Amino acid sequence: MGTKVVLLPGDGIGPAISSAVVRILDAAGADIEWETHHAGAGTLASHGDTLPDTTLQAISDVGIALKGPITTPVGKGFQSVNVRLRKALNLYANVRPVKSLPGIPSRYENVDLIVVRENTEGLYSGIEHVVIPGVVESLKIMTFEACTRIARYAFDHAVKNGRKRVTAVHKANIMKLADGLFLDCFYSVSKDFPDIKADDAIVDATCMKLVMDPTQFDIVVMENLYGDILSDLCSGLVGGLGVTPGANIGEKVSVFEAVHGSAPDIAGRNLANPTALMFSAVLMLRHMDKGEVADRIMAAVTRTLQEGIKTGDLGGTARTTEFTEAVVSRL
Ligand code: NAI
Repeated sequence: MGTKVVLLPGDGIGPAISSAVVRILDAAGADIEWETHHAGAGTLASHGDTLPDTTLQAISDVGIALKGPITTPVGKGFQSVNVRLRKALNLYANVRPVKSLPGIPSRYENVDLIVVRENTEGLYSGIEHVVIPGVVESLKIMTFEACTRIARYAFDHAVKNGRKRVTAVHKANIMKLADGLFLDCFYSVSKDFPDIKADDAIVDATCMKLVMDPTQFDIVVMENLYGDILSDLCSGLVGGLGVTPGANIGEKVSVFEAVHGSAPDIAGRNLANPTALMFSAVLMLRHMDKGEVADRIMAAVTRTLQEGIKTGDLGGTARTTEFTEAVVSRL
């Protein structure tokens, strides 16, 4: 019997790109037993909730999920399913590898860095209130525990992936207490990793340096808001959202997902690019110690792209199913 993975197909283009990924992983012999559950706008009518308890329980029990994009219904009281998932499962590290791909036009050719974002606190704690009409406060929560945990994750990730340097990105010159705590925790953890170079950089200057020469970075680690912004900036350096994977890692549970949304403008038209979800599945396979299958899938996708078979978002003419079969035939 294969290894169990919870599959959340999601909304919009989610079901189409999820079946493409399942097709490729099965064809590659990844030996996965998929357990499909649902979340998102689609479950609101059927379960009365965008994130049913049965889905959360299944992810907790199995420990690993591959998730399609989910539409956040617009309206009062709806919290993003993604935010709820991260909170409920304590998925504290958002990891986004940013790597140039052959066959994908982009500004640089040798980008190979990893963005590690703290996923649970900072300005995204969601604690806001009106002090008096016309004045609001939005609180940035930083704790010793979460800052230390994310720094340790970044250094561990460096060791496990043969990386040499971790840079803490911050604004401690202005937010002396909040980002100062982040930096203190970072340097304190760095002492346990003498073989990894530790340094830090201010977030605005880091944006400039990333745009000028992203090859100067290795692993960058930062709090929630900076991580949200920088990780999108970084996906723009290597070809955009259609090819950028992501992982949400917790102590017991991990959820792998593409960075893009449910693309309602092209849903149901066989036009979606499954590459980003596929690369997320590749991260998942490596996380599950299935590195050999992951390498084979990466090689097949890379060859497909190099041979010019691409979906419309990358300037090609292939439909979702054509691209998928092209990858399968190159495995
Ligand atoms: P989006 O990422 O869905 O779409 C932005 C543009 O990129 C659209 O033109 C779309 O067609 C294109 N696009 C995105 N993914 C593509 C793919 N795989 N292949 C080809 N083209 C692709 O962002 P948008 O429109 O702002 O959000 C739509 C919905 O998705 C919203 O309800 C939003 O809340 C949700 N969303 C969900 C996310 C998640 O579940 N992780 C992340 C971002 C947005």
